[in-house]
Parts: sequence; structure tokens; C-alpha cells
Amino acid sequence: MSMSAIAGRTPVRRPYFPTWPIWNQREIDAVTSVIKSGCWGLGSGNMVRLFQEEFARFNGSDHAIAVTNGSNAIEVALTALDIGPGDEVIVPDYTFISTASEVLRVGAVPILADVDESTFCIDPQEVDRAINERTKGMIPVHFAGHPADMDSLADTVSRSGLRWVEDASHAHGAEWKKKKVGNFADLATFSMQASKTMTAGEGGIIVTNDKDLAEECMSIVNCGRRKGRGNYEHFRLASNFRMTELQAAVLRVQLQRLPDQLAARNENARYLEAELGRIPGITTARRDQRVDMQGLYVYPFLYDSDYFEGLSRESFSRALVAEGIPIELSYPALHEIEVIKKRQFLPTGRRHGDEAPCGQYHKQRTAESFPVSSRLSRQMLWISNGMLLGDRCDMDRIMEAIEKIRRHAGELATAEREDE
Ligand SMILES: Cc1ncc(COP(=O)(O)O)c(C=O)c1O
Repeated sequence: MSMSAIAGRTPVRRPYFPTWPIWNQREIDAVTSVIKSGCWGLGSGNMVRLFQEEFARFNGSDHAIAVTNGSNAIEVALTALDIGPGDEVIVPDYTFISTASEVLRVGAVPILADVDESTFCIDPQEVDRAINERTKGMIPVHFAGHPADMDSLADTVSRSGLRWVEDASHAHGAEWKKKKVGNFADLATFSMQASKTMTAGEGGIIVTNDKDLAEECMSIVNCGRRKGRGNYEHFRLASNFRMTELQAAVLRVQLQRLPDQLAARNENARYLEAELGRIPGITTARRDQRVDMQGLYVYPFLYDSDYFEGLSRESFSRALVAEGIPIELSYPALHEIEVIKKRQFLPTGRRHGDEAPCGQYHKQRTAESFPVSSRLSRQMLWISNGMLLGDRCDMDRIMEAIEKIRRHAGELATAEREDE
């Protein structure tokens, strides 16, 4: 029996959920006006400048520096903080690879820390445990738009003197104790890649409340130039991480859409939190009471196959898709990813850290070091931010489809075994 067997009769949901990205004539007009202006990049256009100002205002931050994408944003931020060879930077083991790979790209070593089992964000106690004399920084990730524990991490920073960068790629508009994320660390980075909650296909932005760091970032983004100096004066080794006027024009419109979309997603998330968690075998994240607004890049939940007659997570997700619920599998944990396991970090394929003192890193390659992220890697699925813009009826359909699969889990699990 194939996964579509139960769905084949009457899928729970048809037609499909809202698709992402959401756009209309406003994005078309914005791009068209830039094209007609002839100012597509650095020069006389003002889209990037306006987008920076508008994002800074939205975020309650003093400065915003637009960049090519969220990965480059992290690289620029680490460079501005003078983090490089010989330094260690603590990152969560459960995140997209860029949080760690950008540490490697500046020549430093990422030290993986396990995450909290209820919020899925970096565990502050694990951070404290990982600190040693080589630790220079940390990058908490506001996973799925739920802010990491900013109180405990700020405490760690004030005790240890670490520099820190918030990776807010999942968390546009999220708030911790009524303050927007991005205003806690030295610098914070956002991604505007295609699946993010505001997007121009690609894009990124850095925010900070530190004027000197803002100037440093601007210089690193723009080939080492300095504001007010000549076009061919380059004051530091840097590269070109500039956003185009076309991207900025789209992002200005997307930013205007964000507040309403955030409100709609948060309302659905509260409903899912109450309802989804009632289904045996499904566990949702526990929202920290200090979180006023979640960014909700996705809505993650855990699936325990023991409650579904041993049906694998992969088959469960395929069955959901067949029911018209386009659920997605989430990331593997970083310690499970090939490039991290083999430590082939240098562009030549040479292994990083063989010669350097990376004692902690050597111990960090087994599932036992990361019990929580190892479990998330096996059990997590997520509901996309586009789906979270559905109505109450759409949310009910998700629950209905899961319940339906649970009722048929025995048949599906047998079919899965026969297919193997
Ligand atoms: C947590 C996290 N950090 C960094 C990035 C990198 O952003 P980008 O894809 O824009 O380079 C992503 C993107 O998926 C991400 O999810």
C-alpha cells in the first residue's frame, strides 16, 4: 500500500495552503521603477538607503546595513568583531549550517552547544560549559523565530566578555520582553532568502546600536571603502557584499506586509500550540513567557513514531503531503553533517584544527554530546510560514490529517516495511 492509499480516497485538504512568497502589483511597480531609473546598484539610487532606514526603524535599532544574504551578514559581523584564526565561537548544534560555516570562513572554529529541549534554542548552560580561554564569541540563533534566552546569554556575556552576534535569520519582528531581537548582542543578522518571512529571493541585513561597529560593517560590505572618502580608497581587506537596488525595492514592500503577517502567524501558532500538542506523539515547542512576539519562520513540532505504530517520520510527512498538508522535514543537527564530521573546512579540503589546539572540538562529534539536537534531528517537522498565513480552518485541517494518519498508522507502517 502506498502512502497515498488513505489519502487517495478523500484528501483532508484541497486546494493547497497559501503559497510563499506573497506579492502583488506593489512589488512589480517597485522593481519596475528601479529598472526604469537605470540605478540598479551602488550609485545614485536610494532604495538600499531607504530600506536600511526603514528596517532600522522597524527594528528599533540605530543602524542597519543591507547585504547580499544572511550567510554573508554573519561573515561581515564576525569580521567587524575582529574574530578570526585562533578564536572559538560557540554556536547551537541545531541550526542551518551558515551559523557555523561562516565562523569557519573567517578562520575561527565553531564550538557546538546543545539546545534547550523546550524552545529548541541554544542552551545557556551548555554555552557556559563550552567557554574556555580561546572562546571569543557566540552566535545564538532565534530558532524558528522563538528568541533564545536573552537574559541568561546577556548574563554570560557580562561575566565572560564574549562578543556576540544574534543570528535572527528566522526571527524578523520577534520580541523578547517587548524588545525586538537584534537589540541585545553587539550585532545581529537577518536573512531574506526565498523561504524567509520577508524576501527578495536573496538578501540580508545587519543591525546594531553601536556606531563604530556599523561603520566597520559598512566598510567590510563595500570593499573596504569608508564613508566620505574616495571611491578608490580602500582602508581594510574586504569584499563586495552589497545589496542591489532591485532587491531593496522589493524588500521595502515586503517589510510593509510583515506586521500583519506576523500577527496572523502568531495567532495561528497559539492555536496550534494548544491543539497540536493534544495529539499523542506530537510535541510542540514551549513558548517562553518572556516572548511577546515570535518571528515564526516556521512552526516546528516533534513526531514520535512510537505513537504511530512505528511509522517513520519520512513516511508520516509523505502521508501528510498526500493529504494536502505540505509539511517539511527539518534540518539534521550540525554534528551529523558531512563537512562538519570530516572537518574538511579549508577550501583546499585540508582539515582545520589538526595543528591548532581544538580540544573541545575533537570531543564533539557523537550523538551523546548532543542528546537534544540529536533527537530534534530525528523527530522534527515543520509547518512553513506560508501555511501559517492560512485561516483557522486550515489549521484544523492539519490536526485532522495527523489524526487520520494516526488512525491508519498500522496499515501505513506495514506498507512502509513491505516497500523497504
Ligand atoms: C539560521 C540561519 N542562519 C543563516 C542563514 C543564511 O542565510 P542565507 O540563506 O540568506 O545566506 C539561514 C538561511 O537559511 C538560516 O536559516
